[in-house]
Amino acid sequence: MRVAIGCDHGGLDIKRQILRQLSHDQHQTLDLGCDSQESVDYPAYAQGVCRAILDGQAERGILICGTGIGMSMVANRFAGIRAALCHELFTARMSREHNDANVLCLGARVVGPGLIYEIVATWLATEFAGGRHLRRIEMF
Ligand code: RB5
Repeated sequence: MRVAIGCDHGGLDIKRQILRQLSHDQHQTLDLGCDSQESVDYPAYAQGVCRAILDGQAERGILICGTGIGMSMVANRFAGIRAALCHELFTARMSREHNDANVLCLGARVVGPGLIYEIVATWLATEFAGGRHLRRIEMF
């Protein structure tokens, strides 16, 4: 799968680990920054990933900041983006099955790297269930 990924300074370390894991799992990645520990503004990186999805450069996106909250607020301003902030496996799976989330937001300061990668793997592997859930997502 083609996955665009972006972070702010709070998410840089875990983004690098996720990128390694995604490559190992044969996903194609598009890294849209940031690239240093210097303080940056998360909206710019959320916007870059959302535009890459809407332009067809990636099928899904992953955004990481300290809490994931700012990234999810920005991403959900874009028509056609359904961003889900997930810090455990149940919502990661349900955000795909019921909501067809195309962006996963993560908080690097909220959960540890082991769980974050399990969340990413579950989210990427879970299909949208369609049916009544399609009708619902078409309402917004
Ligand atoms: C940056 O300090 C922090 O505010 C940011 O990473 C994020 O948590 C915002 O929602």
